[in-house]
Amino acid sequence: MSSIDASAPRSRQSRWLKHKIFETNSIILIIGVLLVISIGGLVEIAPLFYLKNTIEKVEGMRPYTPLEIAGRAIYVREGCYLCHSQMIRPLRDEIERYGHYSLAAESMYDKPFQWGSKRTGPDLARVGGKYSDEWHAGHLADPRSLVPQSIMPGYPFLARTELAFADIAAELRANRGGGVPYTDEMIAQAMTDLKAQATPDHPGQSALEARYPKVQARDFDGNPARISEADALIAYLQVLGTLVDFKLYDDKANIR
Ligand code: HEC
Repeated sequence: MSSIDASAPRSRQSRWLKHKIFETNSIILIIGVLLVISIGGLVEIAPLFYLKNTIEKVEGMRPYTPLEIAGRAIYVREGCYLCHSQMIRPLRDEIERYGHYSLAAESMYDKPFQWGSKRTGPDLARVGGKYSDEWHAGHLADPRSLVPQSIMPGYPFLARTELAFADIAAELRANRGGGVPYTDEMIAQAMTDLKAQATPDHPGQSALEARYPKVQARDFDGNPARISEADALIAYLQVLGTLVDFKLYDDKANIR
């Protein structure tokens, strides 16, 4: 007993002395802090580089068609994400309002993703198929003509502006660089596919459908004579949340 008591103050003091090195020398403290943080970082981050995929695959996801991706570029250009999110959180009120919560795989081909952090307007992750094309065309041109209390700005110039898509193949190629699995054929046919999707009865529609399952091909803005920016943006809005068939998942859940 007595020997322990006698050695206690000395060991406490020597421990304090070792700590003193860190507490009195900021450079050594910084090195110590960095060392400890990088161990934590390595443990969390390093395994991700060795996993083949960090996103659980879901059936139905495919890359955007050329027209959809052109519409997405307009969505980004006009800053729609400043008022609209595209991520339904797994909370009861959100699911009741917007549908199944968003899966990571649903935005795996979004470069960059459009989750957003501000909801001045509703979430758009599953807006595809909720309204008709005519509704979207009218709403984009003049939101208050359909929703009198709306504070969304109008974008009437989109329907008047011809879509510039001369560089659509390069856009697909750039996305492929970012990991979106566009094939050589999809890139070579990008221009034709874009026209086929926006033109009623276009001969290229069956090839388009083969490349992009579930594609919706028609005139979107109400003016079949030309391909406008509104055509592209509405095609994009109409595909949002439509690729994964959640009935399949929910039915399975019900059987169980
Ligand atoms: C200043 C904020 C603001 C901006 C910017 C904005 N919106 Fe909206 N949006 C709203 C509000 C508020 C509503 C709800 C009222 C309404 O339906 O007009 C809405 C509604 C919508 C709806 C209907 C959603 C639903 O489920 O009923 C769509 C689709 C939509 N916006 C698309 C767009 C697109 C596309 C853009 C970019 C071109 C855009 N919005 C830009 C505020 C905005």
